[in-house]
Amino acid sequence: MADNSLRLGLNIDHVATLRNARGGSNPDPVRAALMAQEAGVDGITAHLREDRRHMVDADIENLMQALTLPLNFEMAATDEMQKIALRHKPHAVCIVPEKREERTTEGGLEVAREHNKLADFIAPLREAGSRISLFVAADMKQIEAAHRVGADIIELHVGAYCDAHAEGDFKTRDAEFESLREMSTYAHSLGLEVHAGHGLTYDCVKPIAAFPEVCELNIGHFLIGEAVFRGLTPAVHEMRRLMDEAREL
Ligand code: PXP
Repeated sequence: MADNSLRLGLNIDHVATLRNARGGSNPDPVRAALMAQEAGVDGITAHLREDRRHMVDADIENLMQALTLPLNFEMAATDEMQKIALRHKPHAVCIVPEKREERTTEGGLEVAREHNKLADFIAPLREAGSRISLFVAADMKQIEAAHRVGADIIELHVGAYCDAHAEGDFKTRDAEFESLREMSTYAHSLGLEVHAGHGLTYDCVKPIAAFPEVCELNIGHFLIGEAVFRGLTPAVHEMRRLMDEAREL
């Protein structure tokens, strides 16, 4: 792929959600990851939540062993997760806020207020060789702080933009879009690598994929759902096609 190309990371958490609904071992998230690898995704994302509602510790072990693609390990900034990340040394660690009562990651990380704590938290992870990504809202203060704490990457939370698009609230969608556009330029100007994710679907991916500074999209729930209807490989190929089309505009 060309250097300015846009990577697609598949988040496989919800293969594990389905498995856990029944217990047992089907469907296997590692099998999904290997199939996605064959289908041409550029990376796999897995979020080990504190409550293990989808991914469990053994999944991360198995993924680390089975994958040749980079693993983007999503986690909260807790001591337990830091230990796990230091043991596995994944390609990237994406730090996200986590609340037990939420259904999914609702907001961006509070980096500005937690500046000193986060700087100490990420230092050993960086030393261990993982790239550090912080999942943040399109907020200048958070992005500036991400740069200050020594993150390599910010992942912009595009959930509000996607939700507003799905609900037909175009005023909110366009305002969210404008902030995302401005903040992706700002983050890039600070030397941060810019990723985006959360809530992306075939319907709303193209405007985000067209941001020249964004070099990776992480997409999960929609693609795993779509795989029920078309199969995982065609579902991934269609997302790839839309991303490539957006990049050519
Ligand atoms: N990026 C981050 C940091 C996330 O927390 C999530 C959701 O776990 C995603 C991307 C993927 O979001 P979705 O499943 O809505 O595509």
